[in-house]
Amino acid sequence: MSDTEPEVLISEEEIQTRVLELAAEISSDYSDADDLVMIGVLKGSFIFLADLSRRLSIPRTIEFIAVSSYGTGSVSTGAVRLVMDVRGNIEGKHVLIVEDIVDTGHTLKYLIGLLESHKPASVRTAALVRKAERAEVDVDVDYLGFDIPDKWVVGYGLDYAEQNRTLPYIGIVKPTDT
Ligand code: IMP
Ligand code: MG
Repeated sequence: MSDTEPEVLISEEEIQTRVLELAAEISSDYSDADDLVMIGVLKGSFIFLADLSRRLSIPRTIEFIAVSSYGTGSVSTGAVRLVMDVRGNIEGKHVLIVEDIVDTGHTLKYLIGLLESHKPASVRTAALVRKAERAEVDVDVDYLGFDIPDKWVVGYGLDYAEQNRTLPYIGIVKPTDT
């Protein structure tokens, strides 16, 4: 646990402005698609998905998928494990994976492969933040909120040991386990 208040990295206002911009871009890109399925990656994406999906001006449905790679701390265990698959049939549909953060890229890469095996019409990715300098695999983020430095961040869905997910801003905490 961290005993100090997270230091603000991206303010609530900056996030809301960016989410609106991304929603406009997505709405325009998918204006001809009537079958967009937004797949939120639990748990971290739940707030981003809620805000982003409500700002779209096109038809969309919502699904969730759950994976685990980090345990409860901030040190990667490497392997990605599927905890809960999507329930709906995504075959022939346009899929947009909605992630909170892209760190090494392993999770997103795994998810793209997994969802492609269900034969969707297309798979694209949205992530609120990305730690570009931590990338270990090459993975495209089609709709990116912000590139951030290599710091542990919390808020707007992101946690550190399950704490601080509901902060309205994204803040930096200092993990005690690294
Ligand atoms: P990746 O597979 O290394 O890209 O890791 C992605 C996952 O690691 C995210 O979905 C988060 O659950 C977690 N993660 C990585 N960095 C952070 C962070 O700074 N704050 C909170 N979660 C993080
Ligand atoms: Mg996550």
